[in-house]
Amino acid sequence: MKQDHPTTILALVGKGGVGKTSLSALLVKLLSEQYPDKKILAIDADPAVGLATALGVDVSSTVDDIRKSFVQTVEAGNNNAAIELLGEAKYQMFDALVELGDNISFLAIGRPESAGCYCKVNAYLKEVISMIADHFDYVVIDGEAGIEQVNRRVMEKVTHLVLVSDASKKGLSVVQTIEQVARELVMFDKAGLIVNRMPDLSLSDMLDTGDLELLALIPDDREMVLSDMSGASVFELPEEAPVVKGAKEALQNLGI
Ligand SMILES: Nc1ncnc2c1ncn2[C@@H]1O[C@H](COP(=O)(O)OP(=O)(O)O)[C@@H](O)[C@H]1O
Ligand SMILES: [Mg+2]
Repeated sequence: MKQDHPTTILALVGKGGVGKTSLSALLVKLLSEQYPDKKILAIDADPAVGLATALGVDVSSTVDDIRKSFVQTVEAGNNNAAIELLGEAKYQMFDALVELGDNISFLAIGRPESAGCYCKVNAYLKEVISMIADHFDYVVIDGEAGIEQVNRRVMEKVTHLVLVSDASKKGLSVVQTIEQVARELVMFDKAGLIVNRMPDLSLSDMLDTGDLELLALIPDDREMVLSDMSGASVFELPEEAPVVKGAKEALQNLGI
């Protein structure tokens, strides 16, 4: 069933290793608790894969698997079947969703073997997002590191662009570039910045955040490190962990 109201779509972007995946998983967890009657879709758009682990789900079939079976049918010259497959793609996407708890669904882009494939799967992912997003109330997209998916307009219909950085100059410059490009391509309603893994919160004056709205400053969190070491999901993090509190604050500041 389609929703009779617009879907809220959050995309987490930024350079590698800054906490996009951890924070995506936490936002999914928080949304699911805050809105038990709403439907939430978590999309792992990073071929490096990680959101499944952070959420504690097992991935069976990915967007890339579905794309491959489609391409194989077309290459086998079975055009009628291909047309049927195209119509079926949407149902296959729904089949590929992994259910988690009462109100979370999970979908992974998968890991294509070659770079050429990856560009194609990005195009496919864009279609997938536009096909299934409006069946959910909230969609959280854990983006690939860097600016490629923004450039390719994979995240075209995002309502909230969540820029994630660590305290580094490089990280902050990457999110500022992403925001500028996304703004030129008119891809979001609201954008904001989370600075994560701050070694020392008292250094926050030194951060050059440009014109970006600061949603949350999150310290380097020992609970997160421990959770990572044991391979636990974000559902096992204590409520009072700074990283959980920070994600909550970011959500509030986004007005969600
Ligand atoms: N606030 C934090 N404190 C400590 N470690 C963190 C924090 N946020 C993320 N991490 C850790 O940093 C590493 C990279 O995080 P991850 O979410 O995978 O980043 P990304 O998806 O941007 O590459 C992981 O090992 C994760 O557990
Ligand atoms: Mg990641």
